[in-house]
Amino acid sequence: MGIKPLSLEEIKKMTRACRIAADTLTYLDKYVKAGITTNQIDELANDFMLTKGAKSACLGYHGYPKYTCTSVNEVVCHGLPDETVLKDGDIVNVDVTAWIDGFFGDTSKMFAIGNISDEARDLIETARMARDLGIEAITPKGRTGDIGFETNKYVTRKGYTTVKEIGGHGVGRIFHEEPFVPSFGKKGKGDILVPFHCITVEPMVNQGTDEIIEYDIKGSSIKYYHTADGLLSAQFEHTVLVTDTGYEILTLP
Ligand code: MF3
Ligand code: CO
Ligand code: CO
Repeated sequence: MGIKPLSLEEIKKMTRACRIAADTLTYLDKYVKAGITTNQIDELANDFMLTKGAKSACLGYHGYPKYTCTSVNEVVCHGLPDETVLKDGDIVNVDVTAWIDGFFGDTSKMFAIGNISDEARDLIETARMARDLGIEAITPKGRTGDIGFETNKYVTRKGYTTVKEIGGHGVGRIFHEEPFVPSFGKKGKGDILVPFHCITVEPMVNQGTDEIIEYDIKGSSIKYYHTADGLLSAQFEHTVLVTDTGYEILTLP
């Protein structure tokens, strides 16, 4: 057991997978507007990844039937692309995982559709900052709780909540591996961060309650989640390489 650090060669491959995932989100910028369906976003993302020689890691993962996750408004994560037409005022997280040469690159961001409310914009900026502050808490020999502590502190001070049941994860040759990276926690607690291993930092930030409701996806053991109170949820995700001096974000735009 235990986590094996990546070799330089493996880090290069991981970097490439992450580059493609990040570029997919940037590519979507010009398309994700009012009138597009989440299925169309899903197809565009898949086409882009294929052009770059990568495959969607999501399709077929525990029976998941789509290429990406598209989580609209009160959907917390793993939203299933469908014929939903995005409209002015909606917020949507698009989560892309590219698989190439045996490695996974995992990243997500929020898109604002047209004119969104000040409340929605503040939630989005809080989720982005929560992720970035979590990443900044990564130190060599640090722990997952360091990340969660900073994330939760910031979110709570802003009057929002973090989702506790779902969080970041180790990633590399395996899509989801140890350690679990919580969006709450205590400094110095949790799993040790291993230099030259990758993790994701992906806090889900809710406008109201942190309680979530789980829904089944037909034919899959993956679940999707809504906020229990129907209020908004927002999330950003990066894949980050822990190093011997700190970290390197591999999914920068
Ligand atoms: N990309 C998601 C994450 O950040 C996982 C999606 S799994 C899927 O971990 F099957 F729903 F696509
Ligand atoms: Co992830
Ligand atoms: Co993801």
